[in-house]
Amino acid sequence: MKKYNKGFTVGTFDMFHVGHLNLFRQAKEYCDFLIVGVHSDEWVMKCKNRPTIISYDDRADIVSSIKYVDQVVKNETRSKMEAWERYHFDVAFIGDDWKGTEVWNKIEKELNSVGCDVIYIPYTKGISTTQIRKTLGEKKDKIEAK
Ligand code: CTP
Repeated sequence: MKKYNKGFTVGTFDMFHVGHLNLFRQAKEYCDFLIVGVHSDEWVMKCKNRPTIISYDDRADIVSSIKYVDQVVKNETRSKMEAWERYHFDVAFIGDDWKGTEVWNKIEKELNSVGCDVIYIPYTKGISTTQIRKTLGEKKDKIEAK
């Protein structure tokens, strides 16, 4: 029997990569039912001030096809408490690149106060959407220079 019933994690998951897969795989080891919040295109534009490469519909389609994911929901809030009010999960997962940050210390306290745990999943080093964007940019420069 797994430790938790309902788990939740949230992100953009743009240009889906193995870091995202590792997050879901490890999260699902702790819970029976994994809900993944996927940021809408508008939300990413507002918060990161850059457009997504892959549309929300395609990102949601890819994430929902991963065997560790039980439900995909559209996310348009920074507040984990708002998400908790909606889905009542028992545990929230986040990459451990966020561990000890002011933002997540606060979220952890708030979630703990309603009986929800936070688990930091080991971050997969060497890959991120930002890194892929950078690599593609570098490749583009090389192609154009030829
Ligand atoms: N994550 C991870 N390992 C990676 C990249 C991301 O564990 N190599 C985790 C993050 O900690 C977060 C989740 O995946 O919990 C969603 O991250 P997201 O921002 O969508 O992906 P990134 O690749 O980090 O995107 P960006 O570079 O735009 O921040």
